[in-house]
Amino acid sequence: MHHFHYVQGELYCEQVPVAEVARRVGTPFYLYSHATLSRHFHAFDEAFAGFPHLICFAVKANSNLALLRLFASLGAGADIVSGGELYRALKAGVDPAKIVYSGVGKKPGEIREALRAGILMFNIESSQELQAISRLARRLGTTARVSLRINPDIDPKTHPYISTGLKKNKFGINLEQALRDYRRAKALPGIEVVGVACHIGSQITELAPFLEAVQRLRELIGRLGEMGLSIRYLDLGGGLGITYQDELPPHPREYGAALVQELAGLPVTLILEPGRVLVGNAGILVTRVLYTKYSDARHFIIVDAGMNDLARPSLYGSYHAVWPVVEADRPEVTASVVGPICESGDFLAKDRVLPGFQPGELLAVMSAGAYGFSMSSNYNSRPRVAEILVKDDEFYVIRKRETYRQLIWGERIPAFLKGDA
Ligand code: LLP
Repeated sequence: MHHFHYVQGELYCEQVPVAEVARRVGTPFYLYSHATLSRHFHAFDEAFAGFPHLICFAVKANSNLALLRLFASLGAGADIVSGGELYRALKAGVDPAKIVYSGVGKKPGEIREALRAGILMFNIESSQELQAISRLARRLGTTARVSLRINPDIDPKTHPYISTGLKKNKFGINLEQALRDYRRAKALPGIEVVGVACHIGSQITELAPFLEAVQRLRELIGRLGEMGLSIRYLDLGGGLGITYQDELPPHPREYGAALVQELAGLPVTLILEPGRVLVGNAGILVTRVLYTKYSDARHFIIVDAGMNDLARPSLYGSYHAVWPVVEADRPEVTASVVGPICESGDFLAKDRVLPGFQPGELLAVMSAGAYGFSMSSNYNSRPRVAEILVKDDEFYVIRKRETYRQLIWGERIPAFLKGDA
């Protein structure tokens, strides 16, 4: 459920006409709905009302400060994977005591920053990382709270690039190794074992893989108890899918109810790291048609947003619905929506039945709130686009469009090259 809808043939975000935003800020831009974001957070949070829990928004899905602040104000923490995400989360006012730090490649500097900030816990992904965190914590005269991220070897049945809990993936520690590492962690200085964690993948549309993961972690918690380790947090990661096209993922209510049932009687706080399910359908990418052309019976709609702005279609072959911003009566065409980037993989939609869009028209690329802007780049020296947040009948620029000056920020021509120009 989201707040993008048509009023007399014109697309609105809440009470703001999308075309009006385009007129004021230019295109392309990401547009987010405050009501949708809040609603998604509440729905997710309420789904776990019967169980002690903490929702740590996965910052990588959408890292804009305004969104991080919004979720923090609703009680969320953050799941971070880098020093940069820690910096953003703290700047946005996220309580460090609600921050969990995941990721296979934490650098010493990043670990120190997180220790100094006093985050809730590190989700450790290798035996060597455990040693490194122990050493760094000891040197800072502090203690790191840790979980081990378990690789439970579960097939989440999603795109291979976003499956993370299979044996062959680089993520987590297998169960047998984890038992050895937990035993070691128990004795390590600077380390306090507080949890177990896993994250099996993203855009998962079935409950079974999640339930299987809980069963494995529950068993592990039992065995750790026998070793004298009492586990306070069970972090199940993120991964709940959304509808892009015709997927039918479980509603957060069903997801919550099923997990809570599976966890009944376990004296832990459940941590969840949702990203996509909170922001995916709360954002769109608005772009303008530049040209259309036929070549060898193929129809192209060339727009001013490209794969650098929204990488998902090129990277994963992902489907994003394309809606007209102003509806009109016209024949349908089978066309690809492509960007200005010099690569054949630069498309936002491929061979779709679409309205016969004309140059100058605005298109909305739907479900672009997650892994949209956060994965965008400056490829082809394209300034990154603006981000706009709508609340009721107002809109706010929450990130300005980048300038050419920003494109070359930090670049220097060394003196030996300067003479000739
Ligand atoms: N926790 C951890 C440790 C993660 O690695 C991720 C996502 C999440 C939570 C959040 O997962 P979510 O609830 O959003 O599924 N770029 C890809 C998705 C990559 C997901 C990476 N990890 C895409 O555009 O589909």
